[in-house]
Amino acid sequence: MSAYANAHRRALEDPQGFWGDRAREIDWFRFPDTILDQDENGAWRWFQGGKLNTAWLALDRHVEAGRGDTTALIYDSPATGAVQRFTYSELKDLTARLAGGLAALGVAKGDRVLIYMPMVPEAVAAMLACARLGAVHSVVFGGFAAPELAARIDDARPKVILSASCGIEFDRVIPYKPLLDAAVQHADHKPTHCVILQREQATATLHAPQDLDWRDWQAASAPHDPVAVDATDPLYILYTSGTTGKPKGVLRDNGGHAVALHYSMEAIYGMRAGEVFWAASDIGWVVGHSYIVYAPLFAGCASVLYEGKPVRTPDAGAFWRVIAEHGVKSFFVAPTAFRAIKKEDPNAALKARYDLSCLKYLFVAGERLDPPTYHWLKDTLPGVPVIDHWWQTETGWAICANMAGVELRETRAGSPGFPMPGYDLRILDDDGAELGPDAEGQVVVREPLPPGCFPTLWQDHERFVDAYFSRYPGYYLTGDGGYQDADGYVYIMGRVDDVMNVAGHRLSTGQMEEVVANHPAVAECAVVGIADAEKGQVPLGLVVLKDGVNQDAAALQRELVAAVREGVGAFANFKRALVVPRLPKTRSGKILRQTLRKLIDGEPVAPPSTIEDAAVLPEIATVLGAAAEAAP
Ligand code: COA
Ligand code: AMP
Repeated sequence: MSAYANAHRRALEDPQGFWGDRAREIDWFRFPDTILDQDENGAWRWFQGGKLNTAWLALDRHVEAGRGDTTALIYDSPATGAVQRFTYSELKDLTARLAGGLAALGVAKGDRVLIYMPMVPEAVAAMLACARLGAVHSVVFGGFAAPELAARIDDARPKVILSASCGIEFDRVIPYKPLLDAAVQHADHKPTHCVILQREQATATLHAPQDLDWRDWQAASAPHDPVAVDATDPLYILYTSGTTGKPKGVLRDNGGHAVALHYSMEAIYGMRAGEVFWAASDIGWVVGHSYIVYAPLFAGCASVLYEGKPVRTPDAGAFWRVIAEHGVKSFFVAPTAFRAIKKEDPNAALKARYDLSCLKYLFVAGERLDPPTYHWLKDTLPGVPVIDHWWQTETGWAICANMAGVELRETRAGSPGFPMPGYDLRILDDDGAELGPDAEGQVVVREPLPPGCFPTLWQDHERFVDAYFSRYPGYYLTGDGGYQDADGYVYIMGRVDDVMNVAGHRLSTGQMEEVVANHPAVAECAVVGIADAEKGQVPLGLVVLKDGVNQDAAALQRELVAAVREGVGAFANFKRALVVPRLPKTRSGKILRQTLRKLIDGEPVAPPSTIEDAAVLPEIATVLGAAAEAAP
C-alpha cells in the first residue's frame, strides 16, 4: 500500500492510534486523557484532559529549545516599502508585551478580543497575544464595511478591539478608524477599549477614554506568561458566510488545531523547521489564520507576511520577487491571484528577473483551480508541482490535497487530490445514497471530523447541527458539489448552496440581498453568482421594482452598487443589477436560484417541476439578452 493510502486508512481505522501519535509530536503541559471522545451532548471532542498553550507552542517552545535567533516572521510590505524580520525571541517578546497590555485592560481567559487590522506584524502578534492569555480572538477581514463589523461585534461581544489607523490598497490609503467608529456606534455591544495602531499613512483621531494609542499602551505594558488552557477551550472565532445574511461564528479549539496544523506542515506542505513558507492571503481569512500565523510557527518555519498584491505593487513580478528575495520553499495562494498576473504578464516575462530555484512546491486553494490556470502555472514553473487543495473555514486545514511530505502523487488538472488522513469523504445523491466513481453529488464527510475542524459555532450549537449535520445525519455537509474518479481523485465543482466565491473571498448571496432589498424602490431581489474569467465568480443582482416605481435603471444600479460597498464591502465586487419583471419561484415562494444561475450562464434550462409559472424564464432571458447586447 502506498504511504499516502496507508496514512489515510490508519487514520480512519484507528483514529486514536493515528492522532495519538500526532499528538505526541507536539509539547503539552499535560498530555490528554483521551484522544477522541464524545461530550455530554454527543459532540465529538479531541484530546480531552490535555493542557497546552498555543502561543507557547508557536513561540516560547522554539526559544527554549535554543532556536530563538532563527527567523519567525518576514514582513514584506510593498505598500509601505518596509521589509522587517522578527526572530522567534523578538516575536515572543512582542507577543508577551501585547498579552500584558491586554491583561491590564482586564482581558482574561475566555474573553473575546476583536482584531480589525491590516497585514502588519502587530496583527500577527495580537492574535498570538490572545492565545497566550487563553482569550478568544475574532479577526475581521479589513475589507468588511461597518455594518458587517458591527454584526460581528454584537455576536462576539469583545471586551477590547485592536485596530489600526489605516490599511493600504495598492496606492490607496483606507482609513479604518471611521469604519470602526461607525461599527461601534451601530453595535449594541460596546467594547471597554479600542486600541489603535497609528500608521504614518493616515493618523486616526482618538476619543478618550475609550480609545488608546497602541504605542503608549505598549510602552506601559509588562510581559505576560502563557496561560494553560484545556485542549477543548476555544482559540478563536472566525466568522464566515453562510446561506443566510447572518455570518456563522466558526469556533476553533486549541488542542485539535495545534495537532492537525503541526502535522500538516510537514505531511502536506513538505516543510521543516528553519525553512520559509509563504501563504499570500490575509489574516482575516482562514488561510491567514492557519498558514500565515499558526502552522508555520508551530513547525519552526519562517512565515512571510505580505502587505501587497500580485500586481501593481509595483508590477506583475511581485510574487516572483518575494519568493526569490526570501527563499520561499512552499508558496500558497488563491488561483485568482495568478489569473490577475496572467492578465498583465501572459508569458510571465517578469519571472526571468529572479532566481526561483528555492521554490519547491506551489499550493493553491480558496476556489477551484481552473484547468487553464493550472496549465499556465505548470508551464510557467517547470519542475514545481502545482498542488490544488480544497478546504474551508470550518475545517481549518485541507480536506483534500496531495501530500508533499508523505507521498507526492501525480497532479491532475481540475482535481484538488485525495482526502487527507482523518477525512472519510463520500459523495451522496439528494436521497443520501452513496454514489460511485465519476457521479456528481453532494460532497460530505462522515463523522467524526478530524482534529482541527470546528467543534461547534460560537454560542449556536443548534445552528451547527442544523446547518451541517441535519441534511445527512452522521455526515458533515460541506456545501460543495463534486465527484471522485475511479483512481480516487476528487473534483470539487463549486458550491451547491447560496454561498459564492468572488476572487477567493467567500460571500453569501443572502448578505447582499439584505442590502439590495433595503433600497426603497426594490420589492424583491435575488443575488446570483455568475462566472467571471478573472474573479471566478461575481455577483449579479436581479431586482423587481415596487408597483408604481419608475426609476432609471442606470441610476438604480449606481445606488445599489454604492449600498453594497457600504453595507458589505468593496471586495464583494457587486457591480451589476438588472431590473426584471418577476423572479422564478416555487409554488411555496422559494426563489429558484440554481435555475437562475443556469439561465444567466447561458446553460440550457428545463423549468423545474416545482416552478410556479414557467413563463417567467423567457421574460428574464429577454432582459439578460438585452443587457448583454448593451454591454460594452
Ligand atoms: N481592505 C479594503 N478594501 C479591500 C480589501 C481590504 N483588505 N481587499 C480588497 N479590497 C477592495 C479593493 O481595493 C477593491 O476596491 P475597488 O473596487 O475600489 O477597486 C475591491 O475591494 C475588490 O477587491 P478584489 O476583488 O480583491 O480585487 P483586488 O484587485 O483588490 O485584488 C486579488 C485582486 C487577486 C489580489 C485579491 O482578490 C486576492 O488576493 N484574492 C485572494 C483572496 C484570498 O487570499 N482568499 C483566501 C484563499 S487562499
Ligand atoms: P472559505 O471558507 O472562505 O475557505 O471558502 C471555502 C470554499 O471555497 C469551499 O467550500 C469551496 O467552495 C471553495 N474552495 C476552497 N478551496 C477550493 C479548491 N481547492 N477547489 C474548489 N473550491 C475550493
